[in-house]
Amino acid sequence: MVKKVAILANGGDVSGFNAVIRAIVKTAEHHGVECYGFIDGYRGLLENHYIKLSSADSASGILQKGGSIISSSTNANVFHYKVINENGDVEYKDLSDVCVKNVKKDGFDCIFTLGGDSTQKSARDFSLKGINVIGVPKTIDNDVACTDITFGYNTAVSVATEALDRLHTTAETHNRIMVLEVMGREAGWIALESAIAGGADVALIPEIPYDIEKAAQAIKERQEIGKNFAVVVVSEGAFPKGGDISVAGERDGGEGVINIKLGGAGEKVANDLERLTGLTTRCTVLGYMQRGGTPTAYDRVLSTKYGAKAMTLALEGKFNVLTVLKNGKLDSVSLEEVVGNNKEIGAVQGGTAESNVRVVTPDDDLVKTARDIGICLGD
Ligand code: F6P
Repeated sequence: MVKKVAILANGGDVSGFNAVIRAIVKTAEHHGVECYGFIDGYRGLLENHYIKLSSADSASGILQKGGSIISSSTNANVFHYKVINENGDVEYKDLSDVCVKNVKKDGFDCIFTLGGDSTQKSARDFSLKGINVIGVPKTIDNDVACTDITFGYNTAVSVATEALDRLHTTAETHNRIMVLEVMGREAGWIALESAIAGGADVALIPEIPYDIEKAAQAIKERQEIGKNFAVVVVSEGAFPKGGDISVAGERDGGEGVINIKLGGAGEKVANDLERLTGLTTRCTVLGYMQRGGTPTAYDRVLSTKYGAKAMTLALEGKFNVLTVLKNGKLDSVSLEEVVGNNKEIGAVQGGTAESNVRVVTPDDDLVKTARDIGICLGD
């Protein structure tokens, strides 16, 4: 019998965290289950730092609120945790057993892990240590394996679409090329979907290494029919054929993840297009606008469905799974399936070459639709 559960939110924030939390709390209360929230993702588990969540106070009025009322951590791999020892040297330690002890001592029957591939990798590792976990797929990148969609993604696409609408009018007014760089790491979902929604002429995504001449040619063809402007979406992970990704610096995500901070892909494309087409070109980097603020109605509903489903699974005793949406239906899959071949417990989290992430495939409807309506994908 599940009596006491806790939620943790981990990884980069998205719009919809709070809507999931609210749905879990409400469903739990409906069944007389006590609900808590660990602060700052897995770090809260390590420090045994949690608060009571209740729809009467701490979890009230949060459906439309951005961020996470229980915070979120982007560098808390407790299986390989950065510790500064007495000499001031950095050491990495496996502190997962401290977390297991905390969870058992305070009698949590299930931990809900709201996060992307790294978070779900740690969740799966905890499941092998005897903790009951249920994952909920989060990320603006939409790249979690085994589900059609993650919460937060739709809001990011909406923000990017609004940006494209605004760039469109200024592009047309000044006869310019407007380039919009969007997030997504190695997945081009945000770029592709917002390009279709925002009527872009070119969309460059990591899954299709681009030939800049092809993109320039598409813009020149527009000029031939009297359209002396263009709107281009560039995914931050896009790179030219035979070239490299654009790197802005390093992230402090700890060891066991790829710590590359992407940036510069849009600026590079803008410079090249200006040179090749002769049109004045400007680049806008959308950045963290995609993650903050109020969730769309779609994300509120998706997050609520995921949260209610996660709590229902706990009540049914179905643990060590991820809630997913498959062909429009709520479902669950085992965390083993979600981590794919990234089987080794511990040090290696997600966000690595071993990660089982879902990227855009050539046969995806979005790719076909983009091609059908003449959006140039740079190939
Ligand atoms: O994974 C979500 C995401 O927003 C990516 O799209 C982006 O590359 C990355 O996180 C940025 O990470 P950070 O929050 O560490 O800057």
